[in-house]
Amino acid sequence: MKVYKYDRKFIRDTFDCGKESLNNYIQKNITRDVKNGSCPCFVVKNAFDEVIGYYTLSTESIPKDDAPLQFQKKIRYQYIPTILLGRLAVDKNHFGKGLGKLLLVNSLKRSLEVATHHIGAVAVVVDPIDNEAQEFYAKYGFILLPDSGKMFLSMKTIANAFEKQ
Ligand SMILES: CC(C)(COP(=O)(O)OP(=O)(O)OC[C@H]1O[C@@H](n2cnc3c(N)ncnc32)[C@H](O)[C@@H]1OP(=O)(O)O)[C@@H](O)C(=O)NCCC(=O)NCCS
Repeated sequence: MKVYKYDRKFIRDTFDCGKESLNNYIQKNITRDVKNGSCPCFVVKNAFDEVIGYYTLSTESIPKDDAPLQFQKKIRYQYIPTILLGRLAVDKNHFGKGLGKLLLVNSLKRSLEVATHHIGAVAVVVDPIDNEAQEFYAKYGFILLPDSGKMFLSMKTIANAFEKQ
């Protein structure tokens, strides 16, 4: 299934992932964030142009003290540059069909491409909305950062995972 850059003509009012804030975001707030450049969004859609899954990416710096110990030693700045996978959600009617994985892998590939060739970023960071989301990300190797509740996957780990494929 193809991943598209968000376009406001895509239909979003039917989207329901079971989490109100993530539904509201794609239905009401996304167009403004895409327009002002703060949050590009990538989607999967069905044949009727209805969004059935999406994710957003932006840059984020995390305090060095919040990062895993091995990064604290290596980086000499007080803040560590990362890419924030801000939101990722799939419509309930399509749970369990591999769309969550497809979107996650797509976001990691995109992040790796940027970090390798364009803009410094040592990890992809997520801010899981609840325990279920935390479990989903943990399955793919994200490490919980206890101080912030965010989760962290180093670019090195991502690069190694794609090299093995
Ligand atoms: C979490 C979410 C994105 C998963 O989407 P999905 O399309 O159902 O997931 P997939 O079908 O791609 O599943 C991929 C793998 O993750 C596993 N998985 C799915 N949801 C999981 C969860 N909550 N916890 C642990 N593992 C999970 C699946 O079992 C599958 O494992 P397998 O490959 O070993 O069979 C989806 O449930 C969702 O949108 N939830 C509401 C929004 C949300 O919580 N977003 C998370 C971040 S903010």
